[in-house]
Amino acid sequence: MRHLLSTTDLQRETATALLDTAEALKQALLGREVRKLPTLRGRTVVTLFYESSTRTRASFEVAGKWMSADVVNISAAGSSVAKGESLRDTALTLAAMGADCIVIRHPASGAAHRLASWVPTHVVNAGDGTHQHPTQALLDAATLRERLGTLNGRTVTIVGDVLHSRVARSNIELLITLGARVHLVAPATLLPCGVENWGVENWGVANRVTVGHDLDAALPGTDAVLMLRVQVERMQGGFFPSAREYSISYGLTEARLELLPEHAVVLHPGPMLRGMEIAHSVADSPRAAITEQVRNGVHVRMAVLYHLLAAQEEQA
Ligand code: CP
Repeated sequence: MRHLLSTTDLQRETATALLDTAEALKQALLGREVRKLPTLRGRTVVTLFYESSTRTRASFEVAGKWMSADVVNISAAGSSVAKGESLRDTALTLAAMGADCIVIRHPASGAAHRLASWVPTHVVNAGDGTHQHPTQALLDAATLRERLGTLNGRTVTIVGDVLHSRVARSNIELLITLGARVHLVAPATLLPCGVENWGVENWGVANRVTVGHDLDAALPGTDAVLMLRVQVERMQGGFFPSAREYSISYGLTEARLELLPEHAVVLHPGPMLRGMEIAHSVADSPRAAITEQVRNGVHVRMAVLYHLLAAQEEQA
């Protein structure tokens, strides 16, 4: 694996290998007082973030440090980007300093792909516009595997702002690749045109996503429900009448939690809009795996850095 830019081209074997490595790393670190492996000693990982982040950025930093890499964090606001430096010049500058891997988050869809064409460094897409967030999908899959045992044949319902969500795009692709069925529930205004046909050329008509607008009807047949963040910062205009009306139709309330089968899991990528997308009590309930998602995020990102920077060398 040279880069991790999207889940589109992630083969089932590669995705499973990444998830297995993440699980092995988690087990290896369990109960250790000092969480430090020598695997990436001498390697430099740069996180380059043009958008705000808590989880993704911090967990890449922790992941790198737990594997003994040198980690450098750059925010657009405090860098020469603020003086007008282009993405290409910034990337070439970081590569010239010896970065082995650049982890980039950018508001423009396709930014990570462009970056990968300019530098000899490994590139990880940590979220590009409304396009892709592959490590989020991988950590969601890791969490579902832990809770449900397998994704094969499971039904995952993705709820909310699919239109602006890179998390939804990456998840739809990865979940179907791993054998799950995906059902989308959202207001018509927050669904991309033709979403029913996404990936049909790869997975065939039988595996394509289904779409509905009635959350209450979808929940009883669901093994996992992935609540999406409403991406107000990407919205120009009114996509729903009010936060209250959104919550009434698409919020995961305590009453709706009761509609889910007993084994079903609740996910949210965060940051959450509590009280609107998800009730406080649901987010904090044992059915929700939101903290586990964050915890697994570190191990998944360790696995990604390992496969990019160390695995081939170790095999050789
Ligand atoms: N889920 C996610 O990408 O969160 P951050 O924006 O905090 O990184």
